[in-house]
Amino acid sequence: MLTRRDVLASSAALALQPSIGFSFIPKSAPRPLVVSSGNGYQFKNGGTETCVERAFRMITEGADVLDAVIAGVNIVELDPQDDSVGYGGLPNAEGVVQLDSCVMHGPKRWAGGVAGLEGIRTPSLVAKAVAASTDHHLLVGEGAQRFARGMGMTIEPDLNTPNSRGKWLEWKRRTDPTHYLDPTKRDGLAVALQMAEEGILDPEHVWGTINCNGMNAKGEICGVTTTSGLAFKIPGRVGDSPILGAGLYVDGEIGAAGSTGRGEANLYNLCSYLIVEELRRGKHPKDAGLEALKRVVSNTKEKRLLGPGGRPNFGLNFYVLDKQGRYAGVCMSGRSQFAVCDEKGPRLEACEPLFA
Ligand code: GLY
Repeated sequence: MLTRRDVLASSAALALQPSIGFSFIPKSAPRPLVVSSGNGYQFKNGGTETCVERAFRMITEGADVLDAVIAGVNIVELDPQDDSVGYGGLPNAEGVVQLDSCVMHGPKRWAGGVAGLEGIRTPSLVAKAVAASTDHHLLVGEGAQRFARGMGMTIEPDLNTPNSRGKWLEWKRRTDPTHYLDPTKRDGLAVALQMAEEGILDPEHVWGTINCNGMNAKGEICGVTTTSGLAFKIPGRVGDSPILGAGLYVDGEIGAAGSTGRGEANLYNLCSYLIVEELRRGKHPKDAGLEALKRVVSNTKEKRLLGPGGRPNFGLNFYVLDKQGRYAGVCMSGRSQFAVCDEKGPRLEACEPLFA
């Protein structure tokens, strides 16, 4: 779908064409742009900038785009008030905070991820170290922690805050860890979702995460996703966030997509990869994101995952930008917002819901 901006840019480019022998018309020039989940506009960790503001400022000052988006999400990872990411993230069923993250660098074709990482507030920096300093793409658990220690990072005994510990204790009090599903009922999430309904948990933080994607004026695209994963998960559970193609996918020539929400639904469909492939076929970021959500709907069959009208009863969002500087946030249903920062400044915009 062509926007007015594309048409104007193409017309301007056409006016500059020599009259013979030159047929390439750029749809629009790359422009500095940062897109993230809504928490990228919310948390400042006691400072003055949000994630999207810092990433955008660093990009416009000439920093490497991956360094910029990581510096942005570091604010949220370090902020104890966001209990879905990094320090103070909601712990697993045994009360231990286990973090997942991955990064992708478009121009360098670098990627790195960590999963089930304990004791380090900023897993995105460990994911970057995996990309920069190893021949591998994914390190998990103790190995990931040992690697981080070897890279000079500080390991802490416990990443819980009074907030995350208190919410875990409340969950524990209610469940007496019976979240291994009864095969006849398979309703293991019920307690966490009930706690969200009662206002004890932020519903967006049951699977909360931050994804942040950025592009500079040269059209260089990078992305990062980082999370404490599903609240009160079985220890060792890994969601979509650290998995290339699921929690994040960047193709430096095409665009980037990342996710927040129910990781299992995304893992089954590798939606970030699917979205970037749809961008490659020419789709607008909004249409590419909605296509992925439709795929998730068609692959969601179990009754426990379906609500009224047979629609998925879980949240899943995607944040998408393309090389032409177009972007979108999409969500499964209802209202949700995502963060943007460009030449017009930082702001929240509405995600496009698949089901209104
Ligand atoms: N999307 C975060 C998770 O499911 O772990």
